Amino acid sequence: MSAHKPLVIGNWKMNLDYVEAVHLGQQLGVLLKNKPVEHTDIVVVPPFVDIRSVTSIVDSEKIPVGVGAQHVSAHDNGAHTGEVSTSMLKRLNVQWILVGHSERRSMYAMTDEVVAATLRAVVKSGMNVVLCVGENLEVREDGGQNDFVADQLHSALIGLDEKFLELVTVAYEPIWAIGTGLTASSEQVGEMMAQIRSVLTTLSLGDARVLYGGSVNADNAESLMNEGEVDGFLVGGASLKAESFMSIVQSCNDCYDGKR
Ligand code: PGA
Repeated sequence: MSAHKPLVIGNWKMNLDYVEAVHLGQQLGVLLKNKPVEHTDIVVVPPFVDIRSVTSIVDSEKIPVGVGAQHVSAHDNGAHTGEVSTSMLKRLNVQWILVGHSERRSMYAMTDEVVAATLRAVVKSGMNVVLCVGENLEVREDGGQNDFVADQLHSALIGLDEKFLELVTVAYEPIWAIGTGLTASSEQVGEMMAQIRSVLTTLSLGDARVLYGGSVNADNAESLMNEGEVDGFLVGGASLKAESFMSIVQSCNDCYDGKR
């Protein structure tokens, strides 16, 4: 198992209005109060319109979770209808931004160039970036996943100023495992983690945390953590219920606790 403190991120996607989001945040607060988590960092990533409400209760109730956003513009401001800027999110105490999620890449035409520009905008603003990478089923069946992911990492990260390196986390999310119930095996994840870490080392990012995402749930988190050599998870569906999300967090916490 890797030496990093685990990180578990709940990506709520386009689910939960602000009332539901506050409710889920409060439930997480209660569970964390009853069973505090010392060895795992936790982040929730609500839709834009919920962020202010969620950061308010996180701050006022001192809930030990960070708050992230699912997307941001690469531009500072101006005529970009429908977009949101890094400074707007920073003002709301957002500390984490997902960049290049496969749903943004495939459904909203986010190219590698836009991913690279967005990543730079995020780190320049001082927020943490979670760069999402991962192959589709066709690439996996052809055995091209290592090259595919290496290309995504290079195009997003090459030439990044070293003062920003500590703000980068990578999430490996094979597209065929997202929301499908098909989790990658611990062996597949372990192999890809080694490949990603070796590419990151060549980019001076050998110390970055590398997460896994794709149908992570309370039942598979522990084995992925132990055998898959991951530094934590990016969780979609299972993050929408406080109990299942916290049970994933708890698995990470226990693994870390037991191993050191
Ligand atoms: P999932 O989503 O856990 O529902 O598969 C993961 C993600 O897309 O971040």
